[in-house]
Amino acid sequence: MTVRRVLVLQGPNLDLLGQREPERYGAGTLAELTARLDGLAAELGVSLEHFQSAHEGALVERVHQAARDGVDAAIVNAAAYTHTSIALRDAFLGTGLPFVEVHLSNVHAREPFRHGSLLADVAVGVIVGLKAEGYLLALRALAGAA
Ligand code: DQA
Repeated sequence: MTVRRVLVLQGPNLDLLGQREPERYGAGTLAELTARLDGLAAELGVSLEHFQSAHEGALVERVHQAARDGVDAAIVNAAAYTHTSIALRDAFLGTGLPFVEVHLSNVHAREPFRHGSLLADVAVGVIVGLKAEGYLLALRALAGAA
């Protein structure tokens, strides 16, 4: 799979990065994470599109749009919707858009309701617990440079 265009899809409350439980999610803001990803993407020759929303339907529609636009793959932190959203799962199944699932925190070391993911078994791969580094690793993996 040649990956040239990647959607970075961020779910609810990820706009609060930097102020939100920094010991768990890291001290960097979403803008800083976006800038780090854009820097790496430029090195790898990949073009990134970023989208963050607290709205499940907006995330679903953004997946549809990406598939229509010919985006090759996605890096997805669906945040709390990871554990609940059949609609987002169906969006990836319905479009066939390949994606890597990322979580900043180690969800498996947290409350039992965070251990399940409705996305993980349809993802190309899953990276958890490495804070912002997980997104960068996902991008390298999708670009074939891991
Ligand atoms: C998260 C983990 C989810 O359980 C939580 O609801 C989030 C962030 C993470 O990146 O660690 O909002 O996806």
